[in-house]
Amino acid sequence: MKEKMGFYNLAASLVKLLPPEAAHRATIRALRLGLGPVSLHRDDPVLETEVGGLFLPNPVGLAAGFDKDAEVPDAMLAMGFGFVECGSVTPHPQAGNPGPRLFRLAEDKAIINRMGFNSAGMEHFRSCLEGRRPNPGLVGANLGANRDSADRVADYVTGLKTLWGLADYFTVNISSPNTPGLRGLQSGDAMDDLLGRVQEARQELTGDAPSVPVFLKVAPDIELPDVERITQQARTYGINAIIVSNTTIARPDTLESPHASEAGGLSGAPLMKKSTLMLKEFAAAARGRIDLIGVGGITGGADAYAKIRAGARAVQLYSALVYHGPALVRTIKRDLAARLKADGFNSVAEAVKTA
Ligand SMILES: Cc1cc2nc3c(=O)[nH]c(=O)nc-3n(C[C@H](O)[C@H](O)[C@H](O)COP(=O)(O)O)c2cc1C
Repeated sequence: MKEKMGFYNLAASLVKLLPPEAAHRATIRALRLGLGPVSLHRDDPVLETEVGGLFLPNPVGLAAGFDKDAEVPDAMLAMGFGFVECGSVTPHPQAGNPGPRLFRLAEDKAIINRMGFNSAGMEHFRSCLEGRRPNPGLVGANLGANRDSADRVADYVTGLKTLWGLADYFTVNISSPNTPGLRGLQSGDAMDDLLGRVQEARQELTGDAPSVPVFLKVAPDIELPDVERITQQARTYGINAIIVSNTTIARPDTLESPHASEAGGLSGAPLMKKSTLMLKEFAAAARGRIDLIGVGGITGGADAYAKIRAGARAVQLYSALVYHGPALVRTIKRDLAARLKADGFNSVAEAVKTA
């Protein structure tokens, strides 16, 4: 297994020689062909957790944006992720922004992207999910809106209706910085309209069956006074968990890469501090009444643990995978389990919000 991971990390390093988007496409293609690494290790029971009504074998999830069209969720689960979020998917296919639109900031272990919801559309996404073999692993569908949509809220409702029954949870993503005006949906009245219509659609779709969890993904750049209001609105409309956070439009002055001033959302190591501070704000506002998922800048077990101690019941990552390869998932899980035990915790839940 160790040798195999060595091979995959070598392959990952070679892929890194390609321009970023070509490298990503090559990776997805290889995964579709079944060439991804398979982790045969059983998760340590100390890593089991529950978030938003879902039971997870481990708290380390793949963040949205890697598998935008739901083409390789099972390959990513096989890598050892506790859950995989596909998307963002938009109702109609759209190309996204012109390239180049994805930049590696290698000196900073960071990424800037301004992809702009490139999506093969909802029908393709649906057929990919329908074509999956039965797999007990959890797959979420992250919903976005078309750039030229006249009614963006309707796009989220379309997402729920089209994919209902095919995803283990849904994420309403209103925090991508690359679709003009999208983050305006985080403002008070807009969120009432959005979450109200999402709740209505969900109630219709659910009927008497157990409901499918719906999460809300927020930006790390929101104003602190809005945290309390967003948390309250999420609870009012039955949102099951808040994902904190998406990429940031801020640029810490520590960045060294020549790409640092590219427009778009910054992710990776330099986002850890900001997104964890925002997570702490949400944890204070949530007072344990709504679950949180911590995302942003996780590069190892210590970061994942810090998010959990700050209030997250699960975490997600994307950018670090680009720099560290697939072996990172196991490294994080092993380190996290050791940290939990060393501090005397018997479960992830016990460690949540103890920092
Ligand atoms: C290339 C790229 C594309 C992304 N696309 C999406 C997306 O479509 N929807 C979404 O909710 N988040 C998207 N994200 C944000 C990630 O899900 C995550 O919130 C962010 O990258 C912070 O985590 P990280 O520092 O571990 O990468 C994207 C991130 C990257 C790097």
